Amino acid sequence: MNILILGSGGREHTIAWKIAQSNNCRNLYVAPGNSGTAEIATNVPVSVTDFQAIKTVVLNNNISMVIVGPEDPLVFGIHDFFLDDEALKNVAVIGPQKAAAELEGSKEFAKEFLIKHNIPTAAYQSFNANTVEDGYAFLETLKPPYVLKADGLAAGKGVVILEDIKEAKAELKAMLVDSKFGNASAKVVIEEFLDGIELSCFVLTDGKHYKILPTAKDYKRIGEGDTGLNTGGMGAISPVPFADNVFMTKIKERIVIPTINGLQKDNLPYKGFVFIGLIKVGADPFVIEYNVRLGDPETEVVLPRLKNDLVEVFQAVANQTLDTIDIEIDERAATTVMLVSGGYPEAYEKGKEIFGIENVEDSIVFHAGAQIKDNKIVTSGGRVMAITSYGKTYQEAIKKSYQNIEKLHFDKMNYRKDIGFDL
Ligand code: AMP
Ligand code: GLY
Repeated sequence: MNILILGSGGREHTIAWKIAQSNNCRNLYVAPGNSGTAEIATNVPVSVTDFQAIKTVVLNNNISMVIVGPEDPLVFGIHDFFLDDEALKNVAVIGPQKAAAELEGSKEFAKEFLIKHNIPTAAYQSFNANTVEDGYAFLETLKPPYVLKADGLAAGKGVVILEDIKEAKAELKAMLVDSKFGNASAKVVIEEFLDGIELSCFVLTDGKHYKILPTAKDYKRIGEGDTGLNTGGMGAISPVPFADNVFMTKIKERIVIPTINGLQKDNLPYKGFVFIGLIKVGADPFVIEYNVRLGDPETEVVLPRLKNDLVEVFQAVANQTLDTIDIEIDERAATTVMLVSGGYPEAYEKGKEIFGIENVEDSIVFHAGAQIKDNKIVTSGGRVMAITSYGKTYQEAIKKSYQNIEKLHFDKMNYRKDIGFDL
């Protein structure tokens, strides 16, 4: 069959890399794609949120499966758009419908879902511009640090954690009254701070059945030792060494099963990935957030460890026969290190030529913010490429990634040299 992937990051290059290995895929398209997807698929210059243009691409190229990489098209209802269209309704869409995508689209919706289904999460209350004073009073009842979350999508910037109560109150006002994150902060969730170590659990569901995929740990801060500003993610490791069988059983029983059952009970149609952001407090898992897609750069370590034919797995998701698939996971660890543009996550320059990719040995280079221009590969974003390696241990894998990074270069290239430091 012909397949279309929506997105242009390292996640989408990884999905394309995996799909390109399947005998079940004839022609592969990526919209809009990057320099990495250009090597293994056909890039089409269409925005992931331009549903009419996507429809044209699907019909013109006889596409029968669409895999949605990022959250925006899902939260805007791309799956429902396909189901409501006579010409598109039989095209398989991997990604939940709009109602279910609210698990990522609204923090308040996600918290209500968690509480309703008795899934462990931080205590919270939510506020709007009319209840700012109540918000101040709620902050007074909490111990620092204070966790404030803009309700809607805020490009990963909507969570603010502050030590000082005065600053927390000022931040609440900035979000609710001064629209710091636009409409995304018209509501704010304030929650109890959970002290622990984070990990992510990836689940694939067809709405009835589910499969747990490998866990991963993401390094979000720009600076070594987890310091400085938050980024989209600077590196990742899979599996997470501290997620042993006992802990995974707790995640499955307390979180994954109630989540999948909750989706069914609440009539939230879901065919796609559930990315559960977790924090381990003591010996117990708590949910920090749901995302309705794969993570980036977590995908760059999760999919390389999946041995199955990904198209077969997605067909089972579309047909609701995921129970007939045995997921096979590579025993090896995988690690990835993200190369970023100097200055990221603040202002940075683009258009820098990337040298040395052809010299990389025994690692996989997944392109992210990189494009082909005048036959050269140049930077086009903050996160530029992810260097993934396998190893018997994550230490061995990470060493390989760093050895290969020595061979790569672009002007003002930056990366974290301590991925895995805390494990
Ligand atoms: P999110 O955008 O929801 O992933 O939040 C961004 C980051 O804020 C998370 O990765 C955590 O590091 C942190 N965070 C969110 N909620 C909490 C919480 N309740 N307690 C402690 N840290 C949190
Ligand atoms: N790496 C975090 C995310 O994809 O949301």
